[in-house]
Amino acid sequence: MVADGGSDIHAMLTRTSVRSFQPGAIEPATLAELRGIAETARVGPFGNRVRFALLSPDAAERAEVARLGTYGVIRGASLYIAAAVAAAPRAMEDFGCCFEQAVIRCTKLGLGTCWLGGSFDRAGFARRVELQQGGVLPCVTPVGYPAERRHLVGRALRAFAGSDGRKPWGQLFFDGDFSRPMAEDASDPIHDILRCVRAAPSASNRQPWRIMRDESGALHLFLARTTGYGRWFAGVDLQLIDMGIAMCHISLAAAELGQHGSWTVADPGIGVKGLEHIASWTPTR
Ligand SMILES: Cc1cc2nc3c(=O)[nH]c(=O)nc-3n(C[C@H](O)[C@H](O)[C@H](O)COP(=O)(O)O)c2cc1C
Repeated sequence: MVADGGSDIHAMLTRTSVRSFQPGAIEPATLAELRGIAETARVGPFGNRVRFALLSPDAAERAEVARLGTYGVIRGASLYIAAAVAAAPRAMEDFGCCFEQAVIRCTKLGLGTCWLGGSFDRAGFARRVELQQGGVLPCVTPVGYPAERRHLVGRALRAFAGSDGRKPWGQLFFDGDFSRPMAEDASDPIHDILRCVRAAPSASNRQPWRIMRDESGALHLFLARTTGYGRWFAGVDLQLIDMGIAMCHISLAAAELGQHGSWTVADPGIGVKGLEHIASWTPTR
């Protein structure tokens, strides 16, 4: 059962990437909330601190931002959320988790977003965010009211990334071991948690998350890497960011459903070739 429109679960299930925005200003009360979201640092499940910034260029700067922003992928946005993290173990997963929390909060405010990890000028944004020594700026998102219609480039990008599709349930989720695909069962207590994972955004919609549930109910989260993908930018690993996004969705959905749990990193020793263990979510009873 999915909760109402103000819920995180609803936001996770209904969010899609928005690449065309209404040009008008954001309503003051929403803007104030947005500032709160985008100007609060967050700490990820592995302890890395992610710093946020809301870039709101004045009229004179807009042309520059349009140029440095997005290479034509994004239309009409005049605000961007950018975030930075220091290079450290697990920084990418923490970045993904914290940034997605911000994205979901924007979704709940009726604002559109689009993770950008490739099609933006990283150096240009980094100059504006004042990176600390050794920091990276892995991704940004435009933020604003979605336009009524998607523009042509946005539509082409969706088609190219296959954005409207998700892998079948049994290719993502497994019961007991990786030779046993999980059947989708709406009466399963973790059904909505897994639906939220499946609906998550991922770089090029690769959906690299694989989850195995063991007999104790723990969810073991693995990364199925796309060979050669996601390490194009120094210090940025887009597919580890995808895994952090999945962790965010598991934590938010479980909390809303009243199922409490905690993350551990000890390798459960159940992996198969080609899968990297990222973390395990163990329910606390
Ligand atoms: C880490 C990450 C990086 C992404 N980078 C880009 C990008 O550079 N350009 C873009 O247009 N979309 C980008 N996306 C959006 C994905 O293409 C999109 O999430 C995916 O196709 C699924 O579509 P949906 O978000 O509408 O569900 C990125 C998403 C993630 C999670």
